[in-house]
Amino acid sequence: MTGGDLYKHQLMEYAQDLARAYGELRRSQAEFLATLVALLEMKAPAIRGHARRVAFWSLRLNDVLDRPLDPGALRAAALVHDVGKLGLPDRLIQAWVARREDDRRLIRLHPEMGASLLEHVSAFSDWIPWVRHHHERWDGTGYPAGLTADEIPLGARIICLANAFDYRMNDYGSDPAHTVSGTIAWIERLSGGIFDPDLVRAFVRMPVEALWVNRLWIEGEAEGEA
Ligand SMILES: [Fe+2]
Repeated sequence: MTGGDLYKHQLMEYAQDLARAYGELRRSQAEFLATLVALLEMKAPAIRGHARRVAFWSLRLNDVLDRPLDPGALRAAALVHDVGKLGLPDRLIQAWVARREDDRRLIRLHPEMGASLLEHVSAFSDWIPWVRHHHERWDGTGYPAGLTADEIPLGARIICLANAFDYRMNDYGSDPAHTVSGTIAWIERLSGGIFDPDLVRAFVRMPVEALWVNRLWIEGEAEGEA
C-alpha cells in the first residue's frame, strides 16, 4: 500500500466514523423527542396519537408545496408542538377549551413554555419558532405574539392547519367528531382568518379523504419518517 493509498484509506475511515456519529446524534434527538411525546401522552391519554397525526398531515402538506421545508425539522416541530402543556396544571393538560378566563390565560402560555423547554437543545433552534408560533392566526388574532400573515413562520402555519384538522376530526373538545368534507369546508371558511390561504388551497387539493380512511397506518408512518 502506497502512502497515498494509506492516506485515502484513513480519510474513508474518518468519513465513516463521522457518518456513524451523525446517525447516532440524529437517532438520540429523535428518541428524545419521542420521549417528550410519550410523557405528554402519559399525562393526557385522551390526545394519544394526536402528535404523530399532526406530524403526518404537516409532512403531507409540506410535500405539495413549491418550496417545502426540511421534512425532518418539520416532523420534529409538529411532534412536540404541544409539549409546553407539560408545564400546565394537570387539570388543564388535556383541556382543549377552558371555561374560566384565568384557565384560558394559562393554556395560552403553552407555546412559549414548549419553546423554552426545547431551547435546552441548541440543535433544535431552527424549528423552535414553529412551536412557539403554532397558535398564531393569519389575521393577527392568535398568540403569543399576534403575528400576521407572512410574519408567521411557514412551519408554524403548516402545523396550525394540521393541528386544527386533527383536532376537528377527533372528539377532543366539546364538539363531536366531524366528517372529512365538513372539516374541509370549515377550514375553507377560516382561510384568511385563522389559516394561510395558500396552504388551505394546497390542503384541499390533497386526497385528504383517502388519507383519512387509511389513518390507522398514519401513526406508524409518521413514527418512522426521518
Ligand atoms: Fe397547541
